Amino acid sequence: KIPVWLDCDPGHQDTFAILLSAYHPSLSLLGISTVHGNSSLSHTTYNATSILTAIGAPHIPVYPGASSGLTRPAVHADAIHGASGLDGTALLPVPAVPHLEEPAIDAMAAALLSTPKDTAWLIATGALTNIAHLFTSYPEVASHIRGLSIMGGSIGNHFTAAPLGKVDAKERIGNWSQWAEFNILVDPEAADFLFQHPVLNKKTTLIPLDVTHLVLATKNVQALLLDGKDGKQRTTLRVMLVELLTFFAKTYAEVFGITEGPPLHDPLAVAAVLDGFTGVQIPFRDFEHKGERERYAVRVVTEGSHGDAQAGAETGRTVVKLLPEGEEGVKIPRGLDISRFWSVLEDCLERADNV
Ligand code: BDR
Ligand code: CA
Repeated sequence: KIPVWLDCDPGHQDTFAILLSAYHPSLSLLGISTVHGNSSLSHTTYNATSILTAIGAPHIPVYPGASSGLTRPAVHADAIHGASGLDGTALLPVPAVPHLEEPAIDAMAAALLSTPKDTAWLIATGALTNIAHLFTSYPEVASHIRGLSIMGGSIGNHFTAAPLGKVDAKERIGNWSQWAEFNILVDPEAADFLFQHPVLNKKTTLIPLDVTHLVLATKNVQALLLDGKDGKQRTTLRVMLVELLTFFAKTYAEVFGITEGPPLHDPLAVAAVLDGFTGVQIPFRDFEHKGERERYAVRVVTEGSHGDAQAGAETGRTVVKLLPEGEEGVKIPRGLDISRFWSVLEDCLERADNV
């Protein structure tokens, strides 16, 4: 099994990242750290413990991390996730096990360093503050782990798959501002630190909006998750998950004009750790496909405030450059095996139902 640590800000999409990392038979989830983002740290932490209880995995330890960015105040996404970070269902259980008090970065370092060298993946589906703190305080973790998988950023071509509503698609590449994706925008300094890190930038896989907007939770997907492959599996957990999906389907339609179904974003950063998922080709504007070995240099625009970004500045934008063949850098898959993804997610849900 591949040891994984999940750093997240649940969050509707993060819920599915937790499900996939806790129940995929090839993964061993060591622990979860929470971060500010979709909602306040206290909400994302409570939500993580509640989700783990709901899916029958309350034994997975949860550690709260940073409540604001490296240098910036926190920004929350109430318009997408509601005030709790996980609005839309009354079925979330009271956590069976509370979160732990040990600082997140200490727990992450201890867990990751206890795995055999070059085996563990760190998966980040929220702001990158905890991850930046971890590698600053424990630099030895960078050479120890196998990889870092991040859901974040945008290259600029996802509108070919799912136009982003109100702003003319050609003029918009981000979801939280014209240029920026939410996880990167809320802590651009943390993101830029990681993309420039001399060891990590060669071990990082980035799953940008270009990829996540290909994987929409359509009505068919929602029906599969509600009733299972044979149509007879409905449980309280499934109803809860589909209520969560329905909530952010509505906000996605209102805010972004995506009516086919919302992208699930975060579990794709978990799927990217598994063999054989990535590599299905999609075009990236300006980049000719160079095969599975293509790598990128990534920088983040750090000038400007969150308000500036809302006013049209490029704050939080991921700027990528395709590297010459053979050079090491960030891996940005061009796509994902979408039908296999939904099938694997459903298998995990069946496993959770049977606990
Ligand atoms: C990301 O931002 C959050 O709203 C989601 O949880 C996801 O991690 C998408 O931009
Ligand atoms: Ca998230």
